[in-house]
Formats: sequence, structure tokens, C-alpha cells
Amino acid sequence: MSTFRSSVLAATACGVATLALVGLSFAAPGKPKPKKAAKPAAAASVAAGKKVFAAKCAGCHAATASEAKAGKPGPALTHVAKFMKPAAMEAKIRNPKKSNPNSIMPAFGPQQIPAGEMKALIAYLSTLK
Ligand code: HEC
Repeated sequence: MSTFRSSVLAATACGVATLALVGLSFAAPGKPKPKKAAKPAAAASVAAGKKVFAAKCAGCHAATASEAKAGKPGPALTHVAKFMKPAAMEAKIRNPKKSNPNSIMPAFGPQQIPAGEMKALIAYLSTLK
């Protein structure tokens, strides 16, 4: 009986050791997925850009359908990302008269919108499709 018991014990110990090894290999930390790290940063940038828009653009431009109905001096930007690439958006914001010499849209230089804010603003505008 004692031989049976000790062999059961040995088998159990062996099983536990194997499980521990298997568990260890699964628990080994893998590389963090870049998607998970990138998402919150992008969301933060879009949120920051939305604030820049509210402060500097919303007086003249609608970003939502209901704002568009209200009517503003500038064209609605509700779908701006459909027809403008980020580089074109930035060019328009930095120098509106280049594409339209008669534009009433003011130019926003780096004093008005620093590079970091511009990046956030473009990230926000890129969500308007
Ligand atoms: C004083 C009003 C005014 C302000 C403030 C203003 N805009 Fe404009 N914007 C206009 C007008 C008017 C036009 C259309 C004439 C033109 O093409 O310049 C325009 C055009 C644009 C266009 C091109 C849209 C199209 O349909 O071709 C973009 C993009 C744009 N504005 C983005 C912005 C952003 C982003 C801001 C804030 C940083 C801003 N504008 C601030 C008046 C304004």
C-alpha cells in the first residue's frame, strides 16, 4: 500500500512540476501589443485637437451636422477628411490665402497654433469623414 501511495505522490509531484513549467511558459510576459499602447495616445490627441478646434475654428466652421444647420461663415468641415489629406489641411490652416486669395480665413502661424497643437488638430479633423 505504501508503495502505491508513494508512487501516486511521485506522480502527483511530477504532474504539479509539469503544470508549473507549462504555467511558467504561458505566464512569461510577451511584448506589449503596439495597438493597445497606441490607441489611448491617439484618442488623447484627437481630444486635444477638438479643443483647439473649439477655440480657434468653431466660430467659422461646423464640425457636426447640427452645427452645419446653424450656418457659419466658413464651409462646414463635417466631412473634411473625405476630401482633404492631412498635409492639405495643414497648408490651408497655415496659409489660407494660398488656395484662395480672397479668403477671410485668418492664417494660423506657429504662434497661434504650435506644431504639437497642429498635430492634434489634424488628428481631430481626420476623424471628420
Ligand atoms: C473667420 C472665419 C474662419 C476661421 C476662424 C477659420 N476659418 Fe477655415 N475657412 C473660412 C472660410 C470663409 C473658408 C472658405 C474660403 C477658403 O477656402 O478660404 C475656410 C476654409 C477652410 C478649409 C477648406 C474647406 C473646404 O471646403 O475647402 C479648411 C480645411 C479650414 N477652413 C479649416 C479651418 C481650421 C482648422 C480653422 C481653425 C484653426 C479655421 N479654418 C478657422 C473661415 C474661417
